[in-house]
Amino acid sequence: MAKLDPSAQKKSDHTANYWLGGLTAVFFSLTIFFAFNSKPHVAAQPEIPLVDKKFLDTSPWRQTYADLVKAKEDLSDYDCYACHDKAKPPRIRYDTNQKIIIPKEHANIEMSHGTHERNNICYNCHNEQNLNTLQVRDGNVVKFDNIPQLCGSCHGPTLRDWEAGAHGRTSGYWDRQLGDINRLSCANCHNPHAPDIPTREAAPGPHYLHEASSHEPSKSHR
Ligand code: HEC
Ligand code: HEC
Ligand code: HEC
Ligand code: HEC
Repeated sequence: MAKLDPSAQKKSDHTANYWLGGLTAVFFSLTIFFAFNSKPHVAAQPEIPLVDKKFLDTSPWRQTYADLVKAKEDLSDYDCYACHDKAKPPRIRYDTNQKIIIPKEHANIEMSHGTHERNNICYNCHNEQNLNTLQVRDGNVVKFDNIPQLCGSCHGPTLRDWEAGAHGRTSGYWDRQLGDINRLSCANCHNPHAPDIPTREAAPGPHYLHEASSHEPSKSHR
Protein backbone atom coordinates (compact mmCIF):
# COMPACT_ATOMS: atom_id res chain seq x y z
CA MET A 1 0.00 0.00 0.00
CA ALA A 2 1.40 3.38 -0.93
CA LYS A 3 2.00 5.87 1.79
CA LEU A 4 -0.67 8.56 1.75
CA ASP A 5 0.46 11.91 0.62
CA PRO A 6 -0.39 14.37 3.50
CA SER A 7 -1.65 16.95 1.01
CA ALA A 8 -4.03 14.31 -0.47
CA GLN A 9 -5.15 13.51 3.13
CA LYS A 10 -5.99 17.20 3.70
CA LYS A 11 -7.81 17.36 0.40
CA SER A 12 -10.06 14.38 1.27
CA ASP A 13 -10.83 15.94 4.75
CA HIS A 14 -11.85 19.04 2.91
CA THR A 15 -14.13 17.09 0.55
CA ALA A 16 -15.69 15.28 3.53
CA ASN A 17 -16.39 18.61 5.22
CA TYR A 18 -18.05 19.88 2.06
CA TRP A 19 -20.21 16.77 1.93
CA LEU A 20 -21.19 16.96 5.59
CA GLY A 21 -21.95 20.65 5.28
CA GLY A 22 -23.98 20.00 2.16
CA LEU A 23 -25.93 17.16 3.80
CA THR A 24 -26.63 19.30 6.87
CA ALA A 25 -28.02 21.99 4.59
CA VAL A 26 -30.12 19.41 2.71
CA PHE A 27 -31.55 17.90 5.93
CA PHE A 28 -32.13 21.33 7.38
CA SER A 29 -34.10 22.43 4.34
CA LEU A 30 -36.05 19.12 4.42
CA THR A 31 -36.90 19.85 8.09
CA ILE A 32 -38.28 23.23 7.09
CA PHE A 33 -40.07 21.73 4.09
CA PHE A 34 -41.81 19.05 6.24
CA ALA A 35 -42.57 21.48 9.04
CA PHE A 36 -44.48 23.73 6.65
CA ASN A 37 -46.06 20.95 4.63
CA SER A 38 -47.03 18.66 7.49
CA LYS A 39 -50.73 18.50 6.54
CA PRO A 40 -51.59 15.44 4.46
CA HIS A 41 -52.79 16.37 1.02
CA VAL A 42 -56.47 15.41 0.65
CA ALA A 43 -58.80 16.19 -2.16
CA ALA A 44 -60.92 19.27 -1.49
CA GLN A 45 -64.12 18.30 0.36
CA PRO A 46 -67.36 19.16 -1.35
CA GLU A 47 -69.18 21.95 0.48
CA ILE A 48 -71.72 20.46 2.96
CA PRO A 49 -74.85 22.56 3.16
CA LEU A 50 -75.86 23.39 6.75
CA VAL A 51 -79.17 21.98 7.90
CA ASP A 52 -82.15 24.30 7.48
CA LYS A 53 -82.51 26.33 10.70
CA LYS A 54 -86.20 25.47 10.95
CA PHE A 55 -85.25 21.91 11.98
CA LEU A 56 -83.23 23.23 14.93
CA ASP A 57 -86.03 25.24 16.51
CA THR A 58 -86.98 23.48 19.75
CA SER A 59 -89.77 25.82 20.83
CA PRO A 60 -93.14 24.04 21.02
CA TRP A 61 -95.44 24.71 18.09
CA ARG A 62 -98.48 25.53 20.28
CA GLN A 63 -98.96 27.93 23.15
CA THR A 64 -101.18 26.86 26.02
CA TYR A 65 -103.38 29.09 28.13
CA ALA A 66 -100.62 29.10 30.79
CA ASP A 67 -98.07 30.29 28.16
CA LEU A 68 -100.40 33.07 27.02
CA VAL A 69 -100.82 34.25 30.62
CA LYS A 70 -97.05 34.22 31.13
CA ALA A 71 -96.40 36.11 27.88
CA LYS A 72 -99.23 38.57 28.74
CA GLU A 73 -100.90 37.90 25.41
CA ASP A 74 -104.50 38.45 24.35
CA LEU A 75 -106.76 36.22 26.50
CA SER A 76 -110.11 37.38 25.14
CA ASP A 77 -110.87 33.86 23.81
CA TYR A 78 -110.84 32.72 27.45
CA ASP A 79 -113.15 35.47 28.68
CA CYS A 80 -116.15 33.17 28.26
CA TYR A 81 -118.55 35.36 30.26
CA ALA A 82 -117.91 38.36 28.06
CA CYS A 83 -120.36 36.64 25.70
CA HIS A 84 -122.06 33.91 27.71
CA ASP A 85 -124.60 34.29 30.47
CA LYS A 86 -123.49 32.82 33.81
CA ALA A 87 -127.03 31.62 34.53
CA LYS A 88 -127.51 29.95 31.13
CA PRO A 89 -124.73 27.59 29.94
CA PRO A 90 -124.53 27.57 26.12
CA ARG A 91 -126.48 24.72 24.64
CA ILE A 92 -124.61 22.46 22.24
CA ARG A 93 -126.33 22.33 18.87
CA TYR A 94 -126.14 19.46 16.42
CA ASP A 95 -126.95 19.21 12.74
CA THR A 96 -129.09 16.43 11.26
CA ASN A 97 -126.03 14.10 11.19
CA GLN A 98 -125.44 14.54 14.94
CA LYS A 99 -122.37 16.62 14.13
CA ILE A 100 -121.71 19.58 16.45
CA ILE A 101 -122.40 22.94 14.83
CA ILE A 102 -119.54 25.31 15.64
CA PRO A 103 -120.92 28.86 15.93
CA LYS A 104 -119.10 31.54 13.97
CA GLU A 105 -117.86 33.16 17.21
CA HIS A 106 -115.87 29.95 17.72
CA ALA A 107 -114.86 29.52 14.10
CA ASN A 108 -111.18 29.18 15.18
CA ILE A 109 -112.11 25.83 16.75
CA GLU A 110 -111.80 22.74 14.62
CA MET A 111 -113.35 19.80 16.50
CA SER A 112 -111.88 16.40 15.69
CA HIS A 113 -111.01 14.46 18.83
CA GLY A 114 -110.71 10.73 18.29
CA THR A 115 -111.61 8.51 15.40
CA HIS A 116 -115.29 8.97 14.57
CA GLU A 117 -115.03 12.25 16.53
CA ARG A 118 -115.75 10.27 19.67
CA ASN A 119 -114.75 13.02 22.07
CA ASN A 120 -116.16 16.14 20.41
CA ILE A 121 -118.71 17.08 23.05
CA CYS A 122 -117.67 20.39 24.61
CA TYR A 123 -118.78 19.46 28.14
CA ASN A 124 -116.63 16.33 28.16
CA CYS A 125 -113.91 18.82 29.04
CA HIS A 126 -115.42 22.24 29.71
CA ASN A 127 -117.39 22.85 32.87
CA GLU A 128 -120.87 24.05 31.98
CA GLN A 129 -121.42 25.34 35.54
CA ASN A 130 -118.33 27.56 35.24
CA LEU A 131 -117.01 28.00 31.71
CA ASN A 132 -113.77 29.47 33.06
CA THR A 133 -112.77 25.99 34.23
CA LEU A 134 -112.52 22.46 32.89
CA GLN A 135 -113.96 19.34 34.46
CA VAL A 136 -113.02 15.70 34.51
CA ARG A 137 -115.36 12.73 34.34
CA ASP A 138 -115.66 12.28 38.12
CA GLY A 139 -116.87 15.88 38.35
CA ASN A 140 -113.65 17.35 39.73
CA VAL A 141 -112.93 20.85 38.48
CA VAL A 142 -109.58 21.49 36.77
CA LYS A 143 -108.09 24.89 36.04
CA PHE A 144 -107.10 25.91 32.50
CA ASP A 145 -103.43 25.86 33.49
CA ASN A 146 -103.55 22.20 34.54
CA ILE A 147 -104.36 20.53 31.24
CA PRO A 148 -102.48 17.22 31.87
CA GLN A 149 -104.93 16.53 34.71
CA LEU A 150 -107.84 16.89 32.30
CA CYS A 151 -106.32 14.76 29.53
CA GLY A 152 -105.10 12.16 32.02
CA SER A 153 -108.63 11.59 33.32
CA CYS A 154 -109.33 9.74 30.05
CA HIS A 155 -105.77 8.95 28.88
CA GLY A 156 -104.49 7.43 32.12
CA PRO A 157 -101.62 5.37 30.70
CA THR A 158 -100.38 8.37 28.68
CA LEU A 159 -100.46 10.60 31.77
CA ARG A 160 -98.50 7.93 33.68
CA ASP A 161 -95.92 7.84 30.85
CA TRP A 162 -95.76 11.63 30.75
CA GLU A 163 -95.19 11.86 34.49
CA ALA A 164 -92.38 9.31 34.17
CA GLY A 165 -90.84 11.32 31.31
CA ALA A 166 -91.51 8.73 28.59
CA HIS A 167 -94.20 10.66 26.69
CA GLY A 168 -93.77 14.28 25.67
CA ARG A 169 -90.48 16.10 25.61
CA THR A 170 -88.72 16.33 28.96
CA SER A 171 -85.83 18.76 29.34
CA GLY A 172 -83.89 20.41 32.15
CA TYR A 173 -82.04 18.45 34.83
CA TRP A 174 -82.21 14.79 35.84
CA ASP A 175 -80.47 15.77 39.06
CA ARG A 176 -83.09 17.97 40.71
CA GLN A 177 -80.45 19.48 42.99
CA LEU A 178 -78.88 21.14 39.94
CA GLY A 179 -82.09 22.59 38.59
CA ASP A 180 -85.69 22.06 37.59
CA ILE A 181 -87.02 19.48 35.21
CA ASN A 182 -89.23 20.90 32.45
CA ARG A 183 -92.24 19.06 31.11
CA LEU A 184 -94.26 20.44 28.24
CA SER A 185 -98.01 20.47 28.69
CA CYS A 186 -100.09 18.09 26.57
CA ALA A 187 -101.50 21.19 24.85
CA ASN A 188 -98.02 22.36 23.79
CA CYS A 189 -98.10 19.49 21.30
CA HIS A 190 -101.74 18.42 20.99
CA ASN A 191 -104.56 20.77 20.11
CA PRO A 192 -107.17 19.63 22.69
CA HIS A 193 -109.92 20.07 20.11
CA ALA A 194 -108.11 18.13 17.37
CA PRO A 195 -105.25 16.28 19.12
CA ASP A 196 -103.96 14.22 16.22
CA ILE A 197 -100.54 15.69 15.41
CA PRO A 198 -100.25 16.77 11.78
CA THR A 199 -97.54 15.08 9.74
CA ARG A 200 -94.42 17.18 9.49
CA GLU A 201 -91.64 17.41 6.97
CA ALA A 202 -88.83 15.07 8.08
CA ALA A 203 -85.39 16.55 8.73
CA PRO A 204 -82.69 15.42 6.27
CA GLY A 205 -80.45 12.44 7.16
CA PRO A 206 -76.79 12.76 8.16
CA HIS A 207 -74.09 13.71 5.64
CA TYR A 208 -71.10 11.39 5.26
CA LEU A 209 -67.79 13.15 5.47
CA HIS A 210 -66.35 10.85 2.81
CA GLU A 211 -67.55 9.44 -0.49
CA ALA A 212 -70.51 7.11 0.03
CA SER A 213 -69.52 3.46 -0.47
CA SER A 214 -71.86 0.71 -1.63
CA HIS A 215 -72.62 -0.18 2.03
CA GLU A 216 -74.16 3.17 2.67
CA PRO A 217 -77.57 4.26 1.47
CA SER A 218 -77.40 5.99 -1.86
CA LYS A 219 -78.19 9.67 -2.17
CA SER A 220 -81.68 8.95 -3.43
CA HIS A 221 -82.52 7.28 -0.09
CA ARG A 222 -81.46 10.15 2.07
C1 HEC B 1 -116.84 36.33 21.39
C2 HEC B 1 -117.93 35.80 22.17
C3 HEC B 1 -117.68 34.43 22.82
C4 HEC B 1 -116.69 34.05 23.69
C5 HEC B 1 -115.53 34.89 24.22
C6 HEC B 1 -116.97 32.68 24.04
N1 HEC B 1 -118.09 32.24 23.38
FE1 HEC B 1 -118.88 30.40 23.45
N2 HEC B 1 -120.29 30.89 22.07
C7 HEC B 1 -120.51 32.17 21.59
C8 HEC B 1 -121.71 32.17 20.78
C9 HEC B 1 -122.33 33.41 20.09
C10 HEC B 1 -122.20 30.85 20.74
C11 HEC B 1 -123.44 30.32 20.02
C12 HEC B 1 -124.72 30.77 20.72
C13 HEC B 1 -124.86 30.16 22.09
O1 HEC B 1 -124.90 28.92 22.15
O2 HEC B 1 -124.94 30.92 23.07
C14 HEC B 1 -121.29 30.08 21.57
C15 HEC B 1 -121.42 28.71 21.82
C16 HEC B 1 -120.68 28.02 22.76
C17 HEC B 1 -120.89 26.62 23.08
C18 HEC B 1 -121.89 25.71 22.39
C19 HEC B 1 -121.10 25.19 21.19
C20 HEC B 1 -121.80 24.56 20.05
O3 HEC B 1 -121.07 24.21 19.11
O4 HEC B 1 -123.03 24.40 20.03
C21 HEC B 1 -119.99 26.30 24.06
C22 HEC B 1 -119.80 24.95 24.73
C23 HEC B 1 -119.22 27.50 24.34
N3 HEC B 1 -119.68 28.53 23.53
C24 HEC B 1 -118.20 27.54 25.26
C25 HEC B 1 -117.39 28.65 25.46
C26 HEC B 1 -116.29 28.66 26.38
C27 HEC B 1 -115.85 27.48 27.26
C28 HEC B 1 -115.72 29.89 26.28
C29 HEC B 1 -114.51 30.41 27.04
C30 HEC B 1 -113.32 29.53 27.08
C31 HEC B 1 -116.47 30.65 25.30
N4 HEC B 1 -117.47 29.86 24.83
C32 HEC B 1 -116.19 31.95 24.93
C33 HEC B 1 -119.71 33.26 21.85
C34 HEC B 1 -118.58 33.28 22.63
C1 HEC C 1 -113.59 12.62 28.12
C2 HEC C 1 -112.47 11.80 27.76
C3 HEC C 1 -111.29 12.42 27.06
C4 HEC C 1 -110.56 13.53 27.45
C5 HEC C 1 -110.78 14.44 28.66
C6 HEC C 1 -109.48 13.66 26.50
N1 HEC C 1 -109.55 12.67 25.54
FE1 HEC C 1 -108.25 12.34 24.01
N2 HEC C 1 -109.42 10.86 23.30
C7 HEC C 1 -110.58 10.40 23.91
C8 HEC C 1 -111.19 9.38 23.07
C9 HEC C 1 -112.47 8.62 23.38
C10 HEC C 1 -110.34 9.24 21.95
C11 HEC C 1 -110.53 8.32 20.77
C12 HEC C 1 -109.86 7.01 20.99
C13 HEC C 1 -110.07 6.17 19.78
O1 HEC C 1 -110.67 6.59 18.81
O2 HEC C 1 -109.55 5.04 19.82
C14 HEC C 1 -109.24 10.16 22.13
C15 HEC C 1 -108.17 10.27 21.26
C16 HEC C 1 -107.05 11.08 21.49
C17 HEC C 1 -105.84 11.09 20.70
C18 HEC C 1 -105.52 10.25 19.47
C19 HEC C 1 -105.72 11.06 18.22
C20 HEC C 1 -107.11 11.04 17.73
O3 HEC C 1 -107.69 12.14 17.48
O4 HEC C 1 -107.66 9.94 17.58
C21 HEC C 1 -105.00 12.01 21.25
C22 HEC C 1 -103.61 12.40 20.76
C23 HEC C 1 -105.68 12.57 22.40
N3 HEC C 1 -106.92 11.99 22.53
C24 HEC C 1 -105.13 13.54 23.21
C25 HEC C 1 -105.84 14.17 24.24
C26 HEC C 1 -105.37 15.34 24.95
C27 HEC C 1 -104.06 16.03 24.68
C28 HEC C 1 -106.31 15.65 25.87
C29 HEC C 1 -106.33 16.82 26.83
C30 HEC C 1 -106.37 18.14 26.22
C31 HEC C 1 -107.39 14.67 25.76
N4 HEC C 1 -107.06 13.79 24.74
C32 HEC C 1 -108.50 14.64 26.57
C33 HEC C 1 -111.09 10.83 25.12
C34 HEC C 1 -110.65 11.91 25.84
C1 HEC D 1 -110.89 17.17 24.94
C2 HEC D 1 -111.32 18.26 25.75
C3 HEC D 1 -112.03 19.42 25.08
C4 HEC D 1 -113.17 19.38 24.30
C5 HEC D 1 -113.98 18.18 23.89
C6 HEC D 1 -113.46 20.76 23.97
N1 HEC D 1 -112.52 21.59 24.52
FE1 HEC D 1 -112.39 23.60 24.35
N2 HEC D 1 -110.61 23.60 25.28
C7 HEC D 1 -110.04 22.52 25.91
C8 HEC D 1 -108.79 22.91 26.51
C9 HEC D 1 -107.86 21.99 27.29
C10 HEC D 1 -108.62 24.29 26.25
C11 HEC D 1 -107.44 25.15 26.64
C12 HEC D 1 -106.53 25.12 25.44
C13 HEC D 1 -105.10 25.48 25.64
O1 HEC D 1 -104.64 25.83 26.74
O2 HEC D 1 -104.40 25.42 24.63
C14 HEC D 1 -109.80 24.70 25.48
C15 HEC D 1 -110.02 25.98 25.03
C16 HEC D 1 -111.26 26.42 24.51
C17 HEC D 1 -111.58 27.78 24.21
C18 HEC D 1 -110.67 29.00 24.37
C19 HEC D 1 -109.53 28.98 23.37
C20 HEC D 1 -109.96 28.94 21.94
O3 HEC D 1 -109.41 28.09 21.20
O4 HEC D 1 -110.85 29.69 21.52
C21 HEC D 1 -112.88 27.79 23.74
C22 HEC D 1 -113.68 28.99 23.30
C23 HEC D 1 -113.33 26.42 23.74
N3 HEC D 1 -112.33 25.60 24.20
C24 HEC D 1 -114.57 26.01 23.32
C25 HEC D 1 -114.94 24.70 23.08
C26 HEC D 1 -116.17 24.29 22.40
C27 HEC D 1 -117.21 25.23 21.86
C28 HEC D 1 -116.14 22.93 22.35
C29 HEC D 1 -117.15 22.01 21.69
C30 HEC D 1 -117.48 22.28 20.31
C31 HEC D 1 -114.91 22.50 23.02
N4 HEC D 1 -114.22 23.58 23.43
C32 HEC D 1 -114.53 21.16 23.19
C33 HEC D 1 -110.53 21.24 25.93
C34 HEC D 1 -111.63 20.80 25.20
C1 HEC E 1 -93.57 16.97 23.10
C2 HEC E 1 -94.85 16.76 22.51
C3 HEC E 1 -95.91 15.96 23.25
C4 HEC E 1 -96.40 16.16 24.52
C5 HEC E 1 -95.95 17.19 25.56
C6 HEC E 1 -97.47 15.20 24.69
N1 HEC E 1 -97.59 14.44 23.56
FE1 HEC E 1 -98.98 12.99 23.22
N2 HEC E 1 -98.10 12.52 21.46
C7 HEC E 1 -97.06 13.22 20.88
C8 HEC E 1 -96.70 12.62 19.62
C9 HEC E 1 -95.62 13.11 18.67
C10 HEC E 1 -97.58 11.50 19.45
C11 HEC E 1 -97.66 10.56 18.27
C12 HEC E 1 -98.61 11.32 17.41
C13 HEC E 1 -99.09 10.66 16.20
O1 HEC E 1 -98.65 9.56 15.87
O2 HEC E 1 -99.98 11.28 15.59
C14 HEC E 1 -98.45 11.49 20.62
C15 HEC E 1 -99.48 10.58 20.83
C16 HEC E 1 -100.45 10.69 21.83
C17 HEC E 1 -101.65 9.88 21.95
C18 HEC E 1 -102.10 8.85 20.94
C19 HEC E 1 -102.04 7.48 21.47
C20 HEC E 1 -100.67 6.94 21.54
O3 HEC E 1 -100.16 6.73 22.66
O4 HEC E 1 -100.08 6.68 20.47
C21 HEC E 1 -102.31 10.29 23.07
C22 HEC E 1 -103.62 9.74 23.62
C23 HEC E 1 -101.52 11.36 23.66
N3 HEC E 1 -100.41 11.57 22.89
C24 HEC E 1 -101.89 12.04 24.80
C25 HEC E 1 -101.06 12.94 25.46
C26 HEC E 1 -101.32 13.47 26.79
C27 HEC E 1 -102.53 13.11 27.64
C28 HEC E 1 -100.29 14.31 27.08
C29 HEC E 1 -100.04 15.09 28.38
C30 HEC E 1 -100.10 14.32 29.62
C31 HEC E 1 -99.38 14.34 25.94
N4 HEC E 1 -99.89 13.48 24.98
C32 HEC E 1 -98.22 15.09 25.84
C33 HEC E 1 -96.45 14.35 21.40
C34 HEC E 1 -96.66 14.86 22.66
